[in-house]
Amino acid sequence: MPRAARLGLIVVVVVFVALQLVPKRVSNPAVRAEPPWDKPATRQLAVAACFNCHSNRSHLAWFEHVAPLSWWIAGHVDDGRGKLNFSEYDPNRHGSGGRIAREVQKGSMPPAYYTWFWQHGEAKLSPADKDALITGLTATFGPAVGVREGRGPGGG
Ligand code: HEC
Repeated sequence: MPRAARLGLIVVVVVFVALQLVPKRVSNPAVRAEPPWDKPATRQLAVAACFNCHSNRSHLAWFEHVAPLSWWIAGHVDDGRGKLNFSEYDPNRHGSGGRIAREVQKGSMPPAYYTWFWQHGEAKLSPADKDALITGLTATFGPAVGVREGRGPGGG
């Protein structure tokens, strides 16, 4: 191998190892309170399809712990938990729970990239699962509503 290539390879390896030292990764804080699930099956579907991004129990694949991918994932999980955290149930915050069923109904949650491109086949809902989840989320949090809460005019 030419010297320059060898040197380049060493630099790449050193930088890659150094990236791993940056402490930005997904952590799982204690579960505080779970929603009053209408039935265990609803929870099971939510665990499979939502919990990695919307709970304090994220199970990541090994490669998702590897920087710089892990930084992106950690930011993403922070975003998801910020909007909805099934491990920190608060009746006041989940009050407009119709949103939750609606995201599933629209097909925007779980995100398409996550089930198609990512290795999370467990989150891929069959039509029957999707119906069951919508029914369960509706029973637990309230019916899917068309309103867009918390957003300014034209926002979104
Ligand atoms: C791969 C990660 C991921 C998965 C899996 C996932 N979500 Fe999300 N979700 C996010 C992120 C990130 C946001 C915040 C950004 C956004 O609104 O798009 C979000 C936002 C939301 C919101 C708030 C929407 C809003 O605009 O206020 C709801 C409700 C939601 N998700 C429900 C679900 C449900 C229900 C599931 C399971 C069926 C699910 N999500 C699965 C990442 C995820």
